[in-house]
Amino acid sequence: MTDRLYIFDTTLRDGEQSPGCSMNIEEKMRVAHSLATLGVDIIEAGFPIASPGDFEAVHRIASEVKGPRIAGLARAAQKDIERAGEAVRPAGDRARIHTFIATSPIHMEAKLRMSPDQVVERAVEAVKLARSLAPEVEFSAEDAGRSEMDFLCRIVEATIAAGARIINIPDTVGYMTPDEFGARISELITRVPNSDQAIFSVHCHNDLGLAVANSLVAVENGARQVECTINGLGERAGNASLEEIVMIMKTRADRYDIETNIDTTRIVPTSKLVSQITGMPIQPNKAIVGANAFAHESGIHQDGVLKHKKTYEIMTPESVGWNTNRMVLGKHSGRAALKSRYETLGVELDDDKLVTVFERFKILADKKKDIFDEDLMTILSGDSEVEMERVKLVSLHAASGTNDTPVAAVEIEIEGVRHKATAEGDGPVDAAFKAIKSLVEPNGKLLLYAVNAITAGTDAQGEVTVRLQDGDRIVNGQGSDTDIVVASARALIAALNKLPNMHAKEVHAQYSGV
Ligand code: KIV
Ligand code: ZN
Repeated sequence: MTDRLYIFDTTLRDGEQSPGCSMNIEEKMRVAHSLATLGVDIIEAGFPIASPGDFEAVHRIASEVKGPRIAGLARAAQKDIERAGEAVRPAGDRARIHTFIATSPIHMEAKLRMSPDQVVERAVEAVKLARSLAPEVEFSAEDAGRSEMDFLCRIVEATIAAGARIINIPDTVGYMTPDEFGARISELITRVPNSDQAIFSVHCHNDLGLAVANSLVAVENGARQVECTINGLGERAGNASLEEIVMIMKTRADRYDIETNIDTTRIVPTSKLVSQITGMPIQPNKAIVGANAFAHESGIHQDGVLKHKKTYEIMTPESVGWNTNRMVLGKHSGRAALKSRYETLGVELDDDKLVTVFERFKILADKKKDIFDEDLMTILSGDSEVEMERVKLVSLHAASGTNDTPVAAVEIEIEGVRHKATAEGDGPVDAAFKAIKSLVEPNGKLLLYAVNAITAGTDAQGEVTVRLQDGDRIVNGQGSDTDIVVASARALIAALNKLPNMHAKEVHAQYSGV
């Protein structure tokens, strides 16, 4: 009989811990809805004790996202667990508290300054408390990869006895080799007397590029939950990539005979959405979701594929969602078509939202002939940005040429008051940035400027990602327009809007505009 592998997605928690990948609540909601449409079994929605924003995101996801179980992370500490319990409660019988404590000698001694006995006691208390607050509890032995086997067996047995029904074995620092990690999972399942009362899970980091290999070998040895992220996002080198694990299971069903609940045709749209929201580009040669993953360049390969696709293709691009999103909308498309297209993309629009989004759609459709799914997601992000805009772009005029000094004149509105500036620069984008930055403070240090033509053709929507740093805060902004200078200015403004203390610079003349 075919077995079942549970996909636990931690894009919104571990993925969000990637430097520069923080998302605002609307962005998290969109990712969570998209993950639900993709068919993940569990969404780890965040770390509720970390900040009020994290709490609110987990709470809203637990209230609004239907289908998957919703997990909230908590250290093995009373306040963390109570907060996580409160945040996931709206998910009802789909709520999960995921509590963890480190179990490796180095973590226990240097970080926790606790003895192994104290760690076991704390873990058991944590699981019991969590069990009283949520229907399902997952326990993680942080840095299990470097933990002593006898101790790991002891703490796993104790936490299962305390009520944990999912036992997660993380390779927190990505140190394990596949043979070692597989042996670890097999030994735990064999040695722990009550192991049959829990599902074993793994959570592998990619520091040595082995996260997916280690997850697979764990599955071969009995793990039935894999923690992973879209595009392999996550701390440092990231986590195991969801798309790779799922497609290995599907493509090599002959070896694994394990099913997942994932609708694989949703993989590419979800990957694009996450990349767009986090501002983390996907490397072109990334397996499954990279732009070149199905591109055949050499003559021999092209010839082979033309004669028989299977000569060089082990899975079809359509099966992972490439080319399935080519339904084109245009300026004659109506509201119903737009709403239904968003539904296929996993986005539910209520009537008010549909009105706003439809207006933006029409504006774009006047500028470009074909509107693709990527455009629709961009329209939607524009829509959510509008709601939180303190700074808005009113107008931008940029001029450049082979023998001219590039210059830009901008007008922006900051909390209802209009401001103007003109600047010269090394190109029209640089000039526009200088002009905008001269009007606000703090205005952040530019860490990343990336342009992506998100649809084909010279009338493509250009999408720009800007990453700014102000002190220890790093923020991303995306902007899109058929004019790349305007897209850049929008991206800068979107990022500035995320800097909490950003305000107009005093020195500039202000006038209220109409
Ligand atoms: O990497 C890790 O150990 C974690 C745990 C909190 C599961 O992210
Ligand atoms: Zn992790």
